[in-house]
Amino acid sequence: KQPLTITKLKKMKQSGEPISMLTAYDYPSAKLAEEAGIDIILVGDSLGNVVLGYDTTIPVTLDDMVYHSRVVARAATNTFIVTDMPFMTYRIGKEATLRNAARIMQEGHAHAIKLEGGADIADEVAACVRAGIPVMGHIGLTPQSVHQLGGYRVQGKLEREAQQLIEDAKALEAAGAFSIVLELVTEPLAEAIASALSIPVIGIGAGRGCDGQVLVYHDILQYASPYREKKFVKTYADIGTTIRNAIGSYVSEVKSRAFPQQEHVFPMEQELFTQLYG
Ligand code: KIV
Ligand code: NA
Repeated sequence: KQPLTITKLKKMKQSGEPISMLTAYDYPSAKLAEEAGIDIILVGDSLGNVVLGYDTTIPVTLDDMVYHSRVVARAATNTFIVTDMPFMTYRIGKEATLRNAARIMQEGHAHAIKLEGGADIADEVAACVRAGIPVMGHIGLTPQSVHQLGGYRVQGKLEREAQQLIEDAKALEAAGAFSIVLELVTEPLAEAIASALSIPVIGIGAGRGCDGQVLVYHDILQYASPYREKKFVKTYADIGTTIRNAIGSYVSEVKSRAFPQQEHVFPMEQELFTQLYG
């Protein structure tokens, strides 16, 4: 299987083929996502929540993203990889943004970066694109601004907010973004935005009218995901329970000496044993 390109992604939108995207953060998650045939792996800064144990994505650093991106790239060598720029590593001027984006590409081995924001970051998006760095936008609920937004709430419910989201989406397209993520907005608004743009709109909690869907690895697998109210997530497996039960069995077999058994041990020849230990 050939990895996707931004050209092919745009063609998928034109031909109406939905785009599948899932986060991954380490070797096993990336490997399994690739083997399952995912179109795009997102090394999301959601790793702050699901891998590093923070309450928000705000404490995630550029070093964290570079490190995890590089590991994912090592595991999924045939998949298009988008890596998040974390909180305040952009919006700080074009030069600093470019330097930070360069680390994600050069050290993190990503194919593209993702930035949260709309018209307000259009200049920085354009600067990255001019420098040869493909940019995915991210609007709607933008977790890096959770304290400004006042919580994880559905966005664009008011006329004024909806208008702003449409303008932001168009500004990102005009700045050269190859795609945008639309998070936690009503289905009709998402559908309107997807049809107003020629670049693919990938939704999370944004309904059926998007050009693709993205979800978080630990959420769809019930992999010890710190659960907040997530109506938009579908659980495809419960590996958390599987893992907990398996570890529980291991613990009780060690305690009861049911493990290890004959088949797990290394025997020694009787003659040698006698020689050594009499
Ligand atoms: O960090 C992340 O996982 C994301 C997706 C939820 C879009 O940005
Ligand atoms: Na993110």
